[in-house]
Amino acid sequence: MDERLEALFKPKSIAVVGASRKPGKIGFEILRNIIEYGFKGKVYPVNPKATQILGLKAYPSLEAIPEDVDMVVVSVPAKFVPDIIDQAGKKHAKVAVVIASGFKEIGRADLEEEVVRRARKWGIRVLGPNIFGMIYTPARLNASFGPKDVIPGSVAFITQSGALGIALMGMTIVERIGVSAIISIGNKADIDDADLLEYLAEDPHTKVILIYLEGVTDGRKFLRVAQRVSLKKPIIVIKAGRTEAGAKAVASHTGSLAGNVVIYSTLFKQTGILQARTVEEAFDWARAFSYLPEYKGGQLVLVTNGGGAGVISTDTLAENGVKLEAPPKSLVDTLKPKLPAFASLGNPIDVTGMISNEGFVDSVLEALKNPEVGAVMGIYCQTAVTDPMVIASKLVREIKAMGGLPKPLVLTLIGGEECYWAVTKLNTAKIPTYPMPERAATTVAAIINYSRMREEVRERLKELGDVSD
Ligand code: ACO
Repeated sequence: MDERLEALFKPKSIAVVGASRKPGKIGFEILRNIIEYGFKGKVYPVNPKATQILGLKAYPSLEAIPEDVDMVVVSVPAKFVPDIIDQAGKKHAKVAVVIASGFKEIGRADLEEEVVRRARKWGIRVLGPNIFGMIYTPARLNASFGPKDVIPGSVAFITQSGALGIALMGMTIVERIGVSAIISIGNKADIDDADLLEYLAEDPHTKVILIYLEGVTDGRKFLRVAQRVSLKKPIIVIKAGRTEAGAKAVASHTGSLAGNVVIYSTLFKQTGILQARTVEEAFDWARAFSYLPEYKGGQLVLVTNGGGAGVISTDTLAENGVKLEAPPKSLVDTLKPKLPAFASLGNPIDVTGMISNEGFVDSVLEALKNPEVGAVMGIYCQTAVTDPMVIASKLVREIKAMGGLPKPLVLTLIGGEECYWAVTKLNTAKIPTYPMPERAATTVAAIINYSRMREEVRERLKELGDVSD
């Protein structure tokens, strides 16, 4: 493990160079986030014009700080960054988080190279430039100018886009998706996706890794590392620049090459990476992987009180490579006496629109408990004879009484405002639930496809003598 990456996630001390005295400026907001999110190590604001900022003693330069510092956050204009790196080197800094824009993305590759050259001379790793910072919730570290109240959890999010990353940080709060880390990597002058994947693979607080990717600089390294990491944890990628127009936009955004879309998709598949088509899809999947136990094979069973929603889900699953088989006989035998005579006991199991709250919950739980079933998708359409909030509360209670979910369960609750609140309740209880059947179905498909891809990668590596059982 590179101890300098350890210092990126768990620094003992942080200096903020360019810590502004003025609220609303980036250097001020980063310092405020570090303090208010509860970082426990030492924090040194650096600003030649200030003696104190946000109640902390300010230093005119890095050299004036009496001790060494682990992490230096650099929030001064680009032209000053190389000299700041030299000063950081003298303070034995292990990592520099370079917020400033104005490098490769505007044709100043020379300035970016100079920053890296000096950092290598001192043995400093560089995150950025052109970033909003980074967050690692287990260390109560928020060295970013993004939202303040990130919810701790187990999704790590690596983003090449700053503004989109910040916006999505906000969305994770509204959607109650807990994160372990959010890392803005911008121009990736030094630390890249592969370095972070290697670290996060070993991070006990991270269950799933989500990457917003425009392009990779060292494709071989990325694929080699991703292949190993995907054996341990799911990696979900949103690949931007899929069209010619999008690729042009990528070049002027982070100076990356977007590459060929077909090649990327093929390599992702071979590497065990899940490629999401939309940002929504990526977060839907990340939510499920972070909440659920691992899918260990076995049949997928759909339980629905609405035939149409069952058909839509079946279509979506098929479009994503997941075919349904007849449900286990033992499950049919258990459910048959409890359901209306006209219930359909295929897959999906249609428990019909006349099912009660208790009947729907009981059917989902019976499917979950069946030893031949490996995963369950529950599809609920709001009816006048049921109450989504009662269903949500009962499911939460029963699953808690079972000691948590024994296997993956994904739900969709389709309907009005009551469904919205019921969806929120279930997600808060870490039962992944979506307001639309397609979103739930693509999520189920991602869970099953990840398991398949991982097996294929494992087999391939075994053939190459590259992995132990
Ligand atoms: N050492 C320490 N402090 C210094 C130094 C120095 N050498 N030089 C200046 N300072 C102080 C300044 O006095 C100022 O403090 P003050 O506000 O109390 O007077 C503070 O440091 C900041 O310096 P400014 O010159 O005012 O710089 P400013 O804050 O305007 O901009 C920044 C710096 C934010 C790095 C800017 O140059 C920049 O690159 N902005 C873009 C950042 C960005 O968007 N990142 C990308 C991705 S995120 C996204 O896309 C949303």
